[in-house]
Amino acid sequence: MPSLQEQIQVLEQEINAFSPTDAAGLEQYRIRFLGTKGLVKQLATEMKNVPPEGRKEAGMLLNGFKNLAEARYEEFAATLSAGAANTNAIDISLPGTPLAAGTRHPLRMVENQMVGIFEKIGFSVATGPEIEDDWHNFTSLNMPEHHTARDMQDTFYVAQNPDWVLRTHTSSVQARILETTPLPVRVICPGRVYRNETISARAHCFFHQCEGLYVDKGVSFADLKQTLYYFVTEMFGPDTKVRFRPSYFPFTEPSAEMDISCTVCGGSGCNLCKHSGWVEILGCGMVHPNMLRNFGIDPEVYTGFAFGMGVERITQIKFQVNDLRLYSQNDVRFLRQFQGL
Ligand code: PHE
Repeated sequence: MPSLQEQIQVLEQEINAFSPTDAAGLEQYRIRFLGTKGLVKQLATEMKNVPPEGRKEAGMLLNGFKNLAEARYEEFAATLSAGAANTNAIDISLPGTPLAAGTRHPLRMVENQMVGIFEKIGFSVATGPEIEDDWHNFTSLNMPEHHTARDMQDTFYVAQNPDWVLRTHTSSVQARILETTPLPVRVICPGRVYRNETISARAHCFFHQCEGLYVDKGVSFADLKQTLYYFVTEMFGPDTKVRFRPSYFPFTEPSAEMDISCTVCGGSGCNLCKHSGWVEILGCGMVHPNMLRNFGIDPEVYTGFAFGMGVERITQIKFQVNDLRLYSQNDVRFLRQFQGL
């Protein structure tokens, strides 16, 4: 019987001569040399027949054999898989497929800018739930049941509970703030609101608002005007003019709507301002005494102002987007245009 050394020599020659052409050949190699009944294991069991004085040398030989068999296996496997890649013909010199990177949504950009402007003059951000109860969306805002002003907003009601609505304005957040926050309060409330409108270029069943509320001792209509004037010049530039027209909201008295001089034509008349030179941007007014009383605030001591505007509207004026539906279609050709602005 050949010695262990001789057997290993022969097997090493076999290994060195081996060159698998496919995965099946490689598997045969693995079974023959490295499998549980393979030659490495078999030779190891023969160690017990080696006389004690030769064991150290035999052990080293066997180890060398095992290392060779394993190393060659790894090499063969690597060669085969490189070959497989070649046959799939991936041309690594071709440019890769670009991954579409997202950009900030124009509404979010404008909302961030609004919030930034008001934060500079001490407003903090408040948010609230989009499913709202009747008290916070209507009743506490001086719109009790059957108040005609409820019809100004086409409300979505939640079927499971007649007391719940999808909030029709973020004035509901003002109510929550007055309910929970000690005076004085100065907050800006951005968020999504819902109204049951047929979707068209000029109306959508959901949109975004940003409302503001300031309640303290001695807050006047002059403060309201100055705050909004500051906002407009920051948002649209220092040359922008404002005008206030009397209006009606149940939760403010007196109430007004504010227009700005048209940012497109500068007042000479264009499509955006419908040739009037002015575009309406928000509703505002002094917080109605009834609303203050609803939250246990004495209107003889405290006064406040509130305002609310549509984020879509401001974005439309800033970027001249003429179809509201574009904001929610997520067409990258639309969204990409705002990159880097
Ligand atoms: N909540 C009003 C609306 O949605 C806007 C508004 C807010 C008006 C605050 C006055 C004061 O139309």
